[in-house]
Amino acid sequence: MNLKQYITEVKDWPKAGVNFKDITTIMDNGAAYKYATDQIVEYAKEKHVDIVVGPEARGFIIGCPVAYAMNIGFAPVRKKGKLPREVISYEYDLEYGSNVLTMHKDAIKPGQRVLITDDLLATGGTIEATIKLVESLGGIVAGIAFIIDLKYLNGMEKLKGYDVISLVAYE
Ligand code: PRP
Repeated sequence: MNLKQYITEVKDWPKAGVNFKDITTIMDNGAAYKYATDQIVEYAKEKHVDIVVGPEARGFIIGCPVAYAMNIGFAPVRKKGKLPREVISYEYDLEYGSNVLTMHKDAIKPGQRVLITDDLLATGGTIEATIKLVESLGGIVAGIAFIIDLKYLNGMEKLKGYDVISLVAYE
């Protein structure tokens, strides 16, 4: 299946000059959503992962069906103030300002093999922060999977040394 044909490009959204990649047109098509999920499940099986981790909100859309298909758990990465129990936090820089991501302190057991997944790799800041959180809990990042890699933003530079796949690339 050519997954790219199910991604809708939205010009000038959320602001002028941005060509937004909308994955909701993968999700609302059962065959395309299943295909994308199955590709990541195959990869996760090769990496012998124990748990899936994804950042809100679109990382949940990708990660949860993968975890369900593999009969393993899913641990959410959330923005500050959203998780109810003791958390660890990681702050990272955005183009303007910064963002804080959090995970529950007991979400990962030391030594667990983790698949990190998200819809899209742009600058890589979100996933770099997610890696820091997983590793500070003692998890092993066994693989990282995206639907989309915006190659022209060089996010992969931040993920050097990790095993990464993406299903669709934009040069
Ligand atoms: C988007 C996207 C990734 C991230 C990629 O999420 O879903 O998580 O940005 O950007 P980066 O590689 O430059 O960090 P966003 O922060 O818009 O949150 P959302 O999924 O809740 O809309």
